Amino acid sequence: MTSAPRVRKAVIPAAGLGTRFLPATKAMPKEMLPVVDKPAIQYVVQEAVNAGLDDVLMITGRNKRALEDHFDRVPVTEQLLADKGDTERLAAVQLATDLGEIHYVRQGDPKGLGHAVLRAKTHVGNEPFAVLLGDDLIDERDPLLTTMIDVQAKTGGSVIALIEVEPEKISAYGCADMSVIDGEDYVRVNQLVEKPAVADAPSNLAVIGRYVLHPSVFEVLENTPPGRGNEIQLTDALQTLATRDGEGGGVYGVVFRGRRYDTGDKLSYLKAVVTLACESEDLGADLRAWLGEYTARLPK
Ligand code: G1P
Repeated sequence: MTSAPRVRKAVIPAAGLGTRFLPATKAMPKEMLPVVDKPAIQYVVQEAVNAGLDDVLMITGRNKRALEDHFDRVPVTEQLLADKGDTERLAAVQLATDLGEIHYVRQGDPKGLGHAVLRAKTHVGNEPFAVLLGDDLIDERDPLLTTMIDVQAKTGGSVIALIEVEPEKISAYGCADMSVIDGEDYVRVNQLVEKPAVADAPSNLAVIGRYVLHPSVFEVLENTPPGRGNEIQLTDALQTLATRDGEGGGVYGVVFRGRRYDTGDKLSYLKAVVTLACESEDLGADLRAWLGEYTARLPK
């Protein structure tokens, strides 16, 4: 056991260009694409807040002003809704502002995920912190982040989230080789490779977009040369930490078997929207009925 401080801060990298969604993202950040009735980024901030992280730092870039606007007040709209007595919409609008304290720093050059996380160094300081990638939405009924925070406190190292994928899909992810730890529900990570070719992958365990990191990752990132795609890779820094003993060393994995909605490309995004809409209280029943009729009409 270590006496690691409790995790309080969440870092959300949101500087990506959204190229896969062009032209929808020509003038709008991909994080603002609606998932049913809220922008994708709001689910991620909500997840952080639900896990007790109310200090959120977003790493943004050019054309990302809509993110700041979304989490800010809109006095004119709010007054209008209040005057009309539309308390339901007013509450929905205010929810995004009331989530927690959100800070922003720009990434500057697009030098990769590791570089984006390094931009959080000053804000985070010398305490463990969470990183949430916006392309993965985790169902709020499956408390992944809370489990990871507990594992970080227990081990004093860094913690990643893993899912099992079909072997031929592994090259889209960071890939982990791990060992089971007797009596524990988390694993020890021995090796990490960023987006390996299928033939070179050490396993079919894929890294998904949730991390709880020891602050020593900053010093490692500062010394990590560009890797895959000529970008500074968080996976490479974690590989260094996985082989390091002592203070801040060691990487552990939580294998996630809950509900995850990938919004990283057009098809996954559409599936996420349809799944969540089908489960929503106000739209679900009507949408499911319509989908049933619609798919029955489709040519076989
Ligand atoms: C990043 C990480 C990768 C991880 C993935 C999860 O890649 O570099 O290791 O598996 O997120 O979503 P990206 O999808 O940003 O290219």
